[in-house]
Amino acid sequence: MEMKNFASFLWCVLLILQSSLGSHGQEIYAKTSRNDPNNVVKPKQHRDDPTLSVFFKVNDLYLGKKMPIYFATNDKSNRAYLLSQQEVDSIPFSSKKLPYLLKFFSISNTSPQAEAMKTTLNLCEHKPKEDEFKFCVTSLESMLNMTREIFGLVKPKVLTTKIFNSNHTLFQWYTFVEKPVEIYNLSKMVACHAKAYPYLVYYCHGQKGHLTNRVFKIALGGENGERVEAVAICHMDTSTWDPEHVAFRVLGGRPGGFPVCHFLPADNLVWVASS
Ligand SMILES: *[C@@H]1O[C@H](CO)[C@@H](O)[C@H](O)[C@H]1NC(C)=O
Ligand SMILES: *[C@@H]1O[C@H](CO)[C@@H](O)[C@H](O)[C@H]1NC(C)=O
Ligand SMILES: *[C@@H]1O[C@H](CO)[C@@H](O)[C@H](O)[C@H]1NC(C)=O
Repeated sequence: MEMKNFASFLWCVLLILQSSLGSHGQEIYAKTSRNDPNNVVKPKQHRDDPTLSVFFKVNDLYLGKKMPIYFATNDKSNRAYLLSQQEVDSIPFSSKKLPYLLKFFSISNTSPQAEAMKTTLNLCEHKPKEDEFKFCVTSLESMLNMTREIFGLVKPKVLTTKIFNSNHTLFQWYTFVEKPVEIYNLSKMVACHAKAYPYLVYYCHGQKGHLTNRVFKIALGGENGERVEAVAICHMDTSTWDPEHVAFRVLGGRPGGFPVCHFLPADNLVWVASS
């Protein structure tokens, strides 16, 4: 695929995705991100928080498995739009400029939206740890630049979870209606999470080095009859993870104990090298 074709392909992907953006999915990754100070969840809390029902173990990957899963909403009222490079270049993207930005977008500085913008900007300005890379992507061009920087000349593939239902129920029981299929086993991977912001902003991050991730495609049937073609990722080596990571609260265990798998919310993207 030439770069120009790739750009138009990516444009389509982002257009489809922005129609399924929601506020809740953004929070899941705020909670699971190792960078986020909010990832310290008290033991009792997760039992009451359905958004954490995304983690599972490798031995759960079988036909007929039933589990409650939370999939990010596709609430149309929460849509964020992708801006052109020209527009993005004309608007500062910095926590220092937050007062100006709030005025610019007519957002009250005591509102939850203002708080969310601050959180997103801080996350984007936080330096990555030595063993990881991160980018905040605010336009199609910066998304292309990011994939080029990570994958070089190898053209990457984008993976997403697809929900086939316009009246999606956020949290319900699902059954694995087909045998899960392993589609990739690789180390180089970039996950991009849509963040709360007045326009479309992706927080993209990945691990340096050679930690193995197994990527599965899982066909799910919901209690309400909906079908989901889910992407799930199993992180085979968690030894460098924070012991406070919510995954350990949900599944038990500790860093390096066993592989941790999780479903990809519908408003997230994962880039892998296609081969
Ligand atoms: C993308 O990369 C090109 C070439 O390195 C650079 O000129 C341009 O400013 C970058 N754009 C963004 C949005 O990062
Ligand atoms: C959407 O789903 C909810 C809960 O499953 C149900 O109560 C409601 O009637 C559905 N609405 C439509 C328009 O199908
Ligand atoms: C995945 O790939 C790694 C490294 O190439 C290999 O060591 C491992 O056995 C593979 N795992 C599976 C389940 O195929």
